[in-house]
Amino acid sequence: MIDRPYVTLSCAVSLDGYLDDASPNRLLLSNPADFDRVDAVRARHDAILVGATTIRSDDPRLLIRSESRRAARVARGLPVDPTKITITGSGELDPGAAFFAAGDADKIIYATSPAATELGRTALPASVVDLGDRIDLDRLLRDLVERGIGRLLVEGGGMILTEFLARRCYDELQLAIAPIVVGDDRAPRFIRAGIGPINDHVRLAEVRRLGDIAVLRYETPTALDQSLARILAPTRALLLDFDGPVTPLLAEGRDGRIADRMRQVLAEHGVDPPAELRTTVDPLRILRWATPQHLGPDAAAAVELACIQGEVEAAQLAPLTAGAAQLLTTCQAAELPVIIVSNNSAPAIAVFLDRHGLADRVTGVIARLPGRPDLMKPDPDPIRRALVRLGRPATEGLLIGDSVTDVEVAMITGVPVIGYARPGRRPGLDLAGADVIIDDLEPLTNALTTRGSTAG
Ligand SMILES: NC(=O)c1ccc[n+]([C@@H]2O[C@H](COP(=O)([O-])OP(=O)(O)OC[C@H]3O[C@@H](n4cnc5c(N)ncnc54)[C@H](OP(=O)(O)O)[C@@H]3O)[C@@H](O)[C@H]2O)c1
Repeated sequence: MIDRPYVTLSCAVSLDGYLDDASPNRLLLSNPADFDRVDAVRARHDAILVGATTIRSDDPRLLIRSESRRAARVARGLPVDPTKITITGSGELDPGAAFFAAGDADKIIYATSPAATELGRTALPASVVDLGDRIDLDRLLRDLVERGIGRLLVEGGGMILTEFLARRCYDELQLAIAPIVVGDDRAPRFIRAGIGPINDHVRLAEVRRLGDIAVLRYETPTALDQSLARILAPTRALLLDFDGPVTPLLAEGRDGRIADRMRQVLAEHGVDPPAELRTTVDPLRILRWATPQHLGPDAAAAVELACIQGEVEAAQLAPLTAGAAQLLTTCQAAELPVIIVSNNSAPAIAVFLDRHGLADRVTGVIARLPGRPDLMKPDPDPIRRALVRLGRPATEGLLIGDSVTDVEVAMITGVPVIGYARPGRRPGLDLAGADVIIDDLEPLTNALTTRGSTAG
């Protein structure tokens, strides 16, 4: 049973473990790329919590900056910005602080009794929750669950982060380390004294370099299962990308061979492609450009035919992605419809599914429409057609894809999305907004099996 939100702890620290220096001005420990990363993290949480001292010293707005991330939240029926939360024992909060004044997000203040009484008199634009003599994190987190907060981001400062670490109330810890030394004992530390070891609670899950900043992501052994259970709870159908999650269709140079063949057809029609398409190995990039408007109907049809023939040949050679057959079998057993939603051609997908005896395990295939490369993902058309066929709203679908294009189309259409990260692809999927990222299909299959056995 889920009795607290999924909790992510996040902060930026100096090399010597400080969150700030001791001066009245805030010390910047992130660069633009890291701010963008944090913006993506904020966008996938329901609420952001900071301590009252952070509000007083930094005056943070706690809003999502990217317009596309804001729009994606709206497409899902979520508030534009996450709920803002703070904790106070003193009640010293300025009504003019950006926490209250910036944006339209809901605000919640968790306070001890005297502070709550005081705050109640000040008519702040926030819900004030009285937690008694002392603030018990378990109680606070239970209250958040009752308010529908499924994912909580804790952004600091040091006292708050230390409390969550000490109580082991977290699933994930994201630490950006800046090449800055503060060297001043008066400055706030990331972790205050008195915390025991955490290496029996978390493991290092990812290391990312953003210019001079190193981002470390730690997670508990159950973090991924927790995330998958949450994202699968409303799922009534899978929308499965083909090239990647089902088969590495265009791997091992198959993509480049198709692209070469398409360029050959262009040459036969006396067409010289633009510079950026002369060396690309991506056949779909050429196809997007090779429209009847650009080339005339005959040349466009010939280029498309070359692409289809190349894809069919690839489908006759390509292996199954590890775990794909088990995933489809599990969905069938769980009576969870699966629609393949792909930018590849229908004949190639049909050949592949027949070859591997999987045709009966998918409910339908939405492939690239002949003559309409403009309607490939990230155009919303294929996803919308899949949802119409299923008779389900976007929030009951779940897209599984391996490209930024898949995540982008999910953001536009409001469909939750799992990024299937091939090596090196995780940061792109993360920044694009994937709700959960998996490196292989097995944890997803296991989560579907668990869900099936506990349903009803
Ligand atoms: N680098 C980063 O990523 C980052 C992120 C955030 C903050 N910061 C820095 O961190 C510094 C602030 O950190 P901090 O450790 O001093 O403070 P903090 O954690 O932001 O806030 C501590 C305050 O929260 C309230 N509080 C916390 N636990 C409580 C409990 N159990 N019961 C009642 N009240 C509770 C109290 O507020 P009252 O005092 O009102 O009672 C307490 O003084 C700032 O310099 C800021 O710039 C850095």
